[in-house]
Amino acid sequence: MRIEILTIFPRYFDSPLAESLLGKAIAGGLLEVRITDLRTFSTDRHRKVDDEPYGGGPGMVMMVPVIAAAVEARRESSRAWSILLTPDGTRLDQAHVESLARRESLLLFCGRYEGIDERARQLGLFDEEVSLGDFVLPGGEAAALALLETVSRLIPGVVGTAESVERESFARERLDHPHYTRPREFQGLPVPDVLLSGDHASIERWRRARAYERTLARRPDLLAARPREPGEGED
Ligand code: ADE
Repeated sequence: MRIEILTIFPRYFDSPLAESLLGKAIAGGLLEVRITDLRTFSTDRHRKVDDEPYGGGPGMVMMVPVIAAAVEARRESSRAWSILLTPDGTRLDQAHVESLARRESLLLFCGRYEGIDERARQLGLFDEEVSLGDFVLPGGEAAALALLETVSRLIPGVVGTAESVERESFARERLDHPHYTRPREFQGLPVPDVLLSGDHASIERWRRARAYERTLARRPDLLAARPREPGEGED
């Protein structure tokens, strides 16, 4: 998979791209990421990319000539699906991540929170707009990084066990069940017996019941999409 990122802070991505999952995916040739500094598309002597809003008010607005030049250049060379990261976008969820992961190439445009010149939208430079959630970040960089990380782990071969990714998609509309590892007891708190039983069917039943309970307590909204099912019993 190929991902293009357009940003005014290219160095923001240095360490995440060098470490851990992304670092390995890139080193293994499963993922190709190109970061481009938006300022290289500015025609201004000071490499300006934003200006004061017409009509007044606080903050700066990203200028449409810069946005258009950058997106057109990168979209052309990679035929990427272009995404504007903005709090005004569609809220990202796992199903959406899965559909993006099936694309060959994505272009992530990091807006700044005061906004971009509306004409960038009118020109159809973005195939879609994505928000990470109902909160405001200072810019789209953290959102682009989150999107990059979550999409990358679905590329076949990136996450060690495909099983863990498959299990998650099976468990969609449910929060995760509790997990335990050594020691068997800590400060008087034991690991539940069933997890030590070696009885895989009982363990699975226990996990599904706990996941259901936790979802009901914390995110009942998720249950509307998929109500309680037989294996999510009282165990
Ligand atoms: N840019 C600023 N806030 C954002 C958010 N919540 N999601 C995506 N991009 C953003």
